[in-house]
Amino acid sequence: MRFATKALRVGQNPDPTFRAVVPPIYQSTTFMWQDLDHIPPIDYTRCANPNRDMLEAVIASLEGGLRATLYSSGMAAVAACFSLLEQGDHLLVASDIYGGTFRLAEKYLPRQGVSFSSFDAFDLDSIRAAKQANSKMIIFEAPTNPTMRVPDIRKICEVAKELELLVVFDNTFASPALQNPLSMGADIVLHSTTKYISGHSDVVGGVTITNDPDLGLWLFEWNKAYGCTPSPFDNWLSLRGLRTLSCRMERHCKNAQIVAEFLESNPLVTKVYYPGLPSHPDHEIAKQQMSGFGGMVSAEFKTVAVAKHVAESTKIILLAESLGGVESLVAYPPLMSHATMTEEQRLERGIPPTMLRFSIGIEDHVDLLEDLQKAFDTLPASALS
Ligand SMILES: Cc1ncc(COP(=O)(O)O)c(C=O)c1O
Repeated sequence: MRFATKALRVGQNPDPTFRAVVPPIYQSTTFMWQDLDHIPPIDYTRCANPNRDMLEAVIASLEGGLRATLYSSGMAAVAACFSLLEQGDHLLVASDIYGGTFRLAEKYLPRQGVSFSSFDAFDLDSIRAAKQANSKMIIFEAPTNPTMRVPDIRKICEVAKELELLVVFDNTFASPALQNPLSMGADIVLHSTTKYISGHSDVVGGVTITNDPDLGLWLFEWNKAYGCTPSPFDNWLSLRGLRTLSCRMERHCKNAQIVAEFLESNPLVTKVYYPGLPSHPDHEIAKQQMSGFGGMVSAEFKTVAVAKHVAESTKIILLAESLGGVESLVAYPPLMSHATMTEEQRLERGIPPTMLRFSIGIEDHVDLLEDLQKAFDTLPASALS
């Protein structure tokens, strides 16, 4: 089966009682034993549930993995990966990592005796330099947030293997429809399923996928022990979203390319960050390792006032955090995703106060362009001074 068909068929046999085509929601905490001689395959929903099993089977198959484990959020999936670290271990974290992941490494892991160092995913020697005798794991992502840089996943995995590090890759921004990092050397792939996998901004969740049976068993058992498992309804919603991932992603990519080109041609925009643009520094590597350039676009505007005016004026593109849903969103990183950083830290990471990040949805692209154009047309003259 190919990707789009797998999303609709893997693990989703019609319900045996009524032959419902759409899987029912097994909203039950407990499942009846037939007798005491037969342990049922599913007996308690924190440990397993039919809706979770179905979704895990599909996601494992879409990422080309052996086993997937679902969590109540993307951060719980990150925490599950970090549970593989023991007291005295050291972690390598890409400097361009999701803020929540950095916060776990900086604030909580040290309390458990785990230290970390940052590395630059665009400088392989910085990985070698950051490696310590007790380094056990490396974590990185691509495209990065909000500058949409695309590091070479295969090369980083090669160096990590040479250094005997376990590779964890956050594939949230690309989704399994655009890249499958297990096939490029990652040991564990994780997603915030809140984003593209669920795709409708109505459910929070996370997942890890691996080809290693021991790692898969550890992650499953950790989840069962800590109880970070999602509800049957959340799993049902995520599966409903996932079934259309393939066509949604095609539209996200098409619309994002159009919006990126539109912004790049506007004199009020000074820089556009989208891997699908030939002007993007990682356009070539993105072409090699992704089957599409994704739905995320960032842009710098002439002044802070222009950026803020655009963020506050669009009507179809909504001013809100998050990404990966069917509706387009615009975010202002200094007050949203990167609010906990100082201005200096943001500038160091290439995030000026003139930048906006767009999660481009699946609307008609003409409406998106008209929405942006109207925002430019209503710009007060004072915004340029
Ligand atoms: C790249 C990335 N990883 C992980 C997370 C955390 O996911 P969640 O919000 O579902 O816990 C996010 C959230 O925005 C994210 O963008």
